[in-house]
Amino acid sequence: MIISSPNDYRAAAKAKLPPFLFHYIDGGAYAEQTLANNTGDLNQVALRQRVLKDMSALSLNTELFGEQLALPVALAPVGLTGMYARRGEVQAAQAAAECGVPFTLSTVSVCPIEEVVPAINRPMWFQLYVLKDRGFMRNVLERAKAAGVTTLVFTVDMPVPGARYRDMHSGMSGPNAAIKRVAQAMLHPSWALDVGVLGKPHDLGNISHYRGEPTKLEDYIGWLGANFDPSISWQDLEWIREFWDGPMVIKGILDSEDAKDAVRFGADGIVVSNHGGRQLDGVLSTAKVLPAIADAVSGELKILVDSGVRSGLDVVRMLALGADCTLIGRSFVYALAAQGKAGVANLLDLYKKEMQVAMTLCGAKTIADLSRDSLVAPE
Ligand code: GLV
Repeated sequence: MIISSPNDYRAAAKAKLPPFLFHYIDGGAYAEQTLANNTGDLNQVALRQRVLKDMSALSLNTELFGEQLALPVALAPVGLTGMYARRGEVQAAQAAAECGVPFTLSTVSVCPIEEVVPAINRPMWFQLYVLKDRGFMRNVLERAKAAGVTTLVFTVDMPVPGARYRDMHSGMSGPNAAIKRVAQAMLHPSWALDVGVLGKPHDLGNISHYRGEPTKLEDYIGWLGANFDPSISWQDLEWIREFWDGPMVIKGILDSEDAKDAVRFGADGIVVSNHGGRQLDGVLSTAKVLPAIADAVSGELKILVDSGVRSGLDVVRMLALGADCTLIGRSFVYALAAQGKAGVANLLDLYKKEMQVAMTLCGAKTIADLSRDSLVAPE
């Protein structure tokens, strides 16, 4: 399969993966309208072309939370990344480190913190979910700190998991799920050998490490529903602060009032996110809500954004709409599934090249030059 654009990795991943895994990453909540709007609305954002501005010296570098980033992109936390390639979190983190961008390890990753951190030569970010078991949260924060994790990404938009109807059909959950998964693995032998057999153990590594026994993955979605805490509130964030004194980013903000609360709380950043259209279907796309949130809190904390970013061009659009940095989730997991670490490294290179062309033709020499002025004003 020829890979010429970041989006080519989606088809490559679909061919390689058992359907239950492809649909888990590809799908969204309910009718998937927000999922579609995330990419659809972003595609409609029109960049303003400028010419004859001597664009020979161009820089994509940016600084975030005291770290240098080669481009304003970080790999988003994605649960079960280790099921998409052999010890997938390690491979993705290595590619990110070599390309000079942060990797964020999910609470519900396959590889634990202790496996990923020693394998990379760059500080890692860690994503925290609020679990009912506060002992786990305290334990994992202490471990993250001990391992040298720099930035905590605290996800707040999953007090309950959104209904992902595709998962019920694909074998991720629903009737006869385990049998369906075995049948699908047999039809995808290269995944079955590389990840299914050689990529073990398959469990939620961070949680198993705490409990001292494997957290089985037979009913992952059921596990999320049973262990996530719907009582989550700003008080929980205060409690987390007692165990975390480094940069803290609140992920899952879609409303300016919540963004202002994040400023009042003292967050170092927010991620404007609808969880990739995987939680509440029917909410607005991030491309639509970002400008108002940026107007409300710009300069008070860093604004990161995800949900809909599939290319370097999309990164430029999000920065012009008011973001300081983007997170990519599905986009890197498709590349990881298709080609492992090399796929993620190539993907980031494709993003970089797209950004270089887009910034050259927008007359933006640096990341800071991208602003609302880089967009065609709405009529
Ligand atoms: C978990 O974070 C998911 O979106 O499935």
